[in-house]
Amino acid sequence: MGRDAPLAQAEIPRLYDSLAPFYDRWAFFTESKARRRAIELTCLRDGETVLEVAVGTGLMFEEIVKLNPHGNNLGIDLSAGMLRRAGERLAPYTSDNYELRRGDALDLGVDTESIDLLVNCYMFDLLCAKDTDTVLDEFGRVLKPEGRMVVVNMTHGRSRGSRVYESISRRFPRSAGGCRGVQLATTTSQHGFEIDSVEYLQQCLFPSEIIVARKATHS
Ligand SMILES: C[S@@+](CC[C@H](N)C(=O)[O-])C[C@H]1O[C@@H](n2cnc3c(N)ncnc32)[C@H](O)[C@@H]1O
Repeated sequence: MGRDAPLAQAEIPRLYDSLAPFYDRWAFFTESKARRRAIELTCLRDGETVLEVAVGTGLMFEEIVKLNPHGNNLGIDLSAGMLRRAGERLAPYTSDNYELRRGDALDLGVDTESIDLLVNCYMFDLLCAKDTDTVLDEFGRVLKPEGRMVVVNMTHGRSRGSRVYESISRRFPRSAGGCRGVQLATTTSQHGFEIDSVEYLQQCLFPSEIIVARKATHS
C-alpha cells in the first residue's frame, strides 16, 4: 500500500467536522467524476439493502436513495459534522427508505451477511494498513455471499501533474484531509473478495481508483 496514514483515526472526526462546510466544493472539482462512475458500477437494483460506509456529506448517498426507493439504505460516518450535512441534503426525501447514523467502519454494528451492496468512497486513503485489514474483514462479514462492493480512493498519480496531491498530502496532511494515495486491489483480494474491475480516473489532476469486487463464496 505504500506510505502509511499520516493522521491517527482519533483525529479524523474532528478534522472532518471542520472540513464539512467546504467539502462539497472540493469534491465537485476533484471527485465528482469518479463518484458518478462508481454509482454506475454499483449496478444498483431497486429493493436492495445498501450500506454506505463513510457517507460524508451524502453526495453518493443521495444518488443511492434515489435509485433504491424500495430498498433499505444505511449511511454511517464517524464525523457528526459530515453527517449533519448529509442529513440536510437528504431532508427533501421521505426517510422511509434510509437511515443516517454515527458509526465506525472498524465495527459496523450491522448484522452478518445482511448487505447486498456496500459502497465506500475516499476512506481507505485515510486508514493505516492495520485498520485497512480490519475494515476489509468487517466489510466481508456484513456482505451477503456474492454481495457487491464498490470502493473509491485517492490513488497514486500516473502523471507528473497528478503526483502533486501526494506531495501536498505529505507536507500538509491536515489540509489534505489526512489522505494519501493507495492501491487496494491486491489487499482486497487477500480478504476474501473477487475483483471484478479496477479503474483509474483523473479529475483536475486528482487521481482516483475505483474497485468493484464481490464477496467470494469460498471465503
Ligand atoms: C474524504 S471524506 C469522504 C466522504 C464521502 N465518502 C465522499 O466521498 O464524499 C472521508 C470520510 O470518511 C469518514 N471516516 C474516516 N474514517 C472512518 C471510519 N473509521 N468509519 C466511518 N467513517 C470514517 C470521515 O469522517 C469522512 O466523512
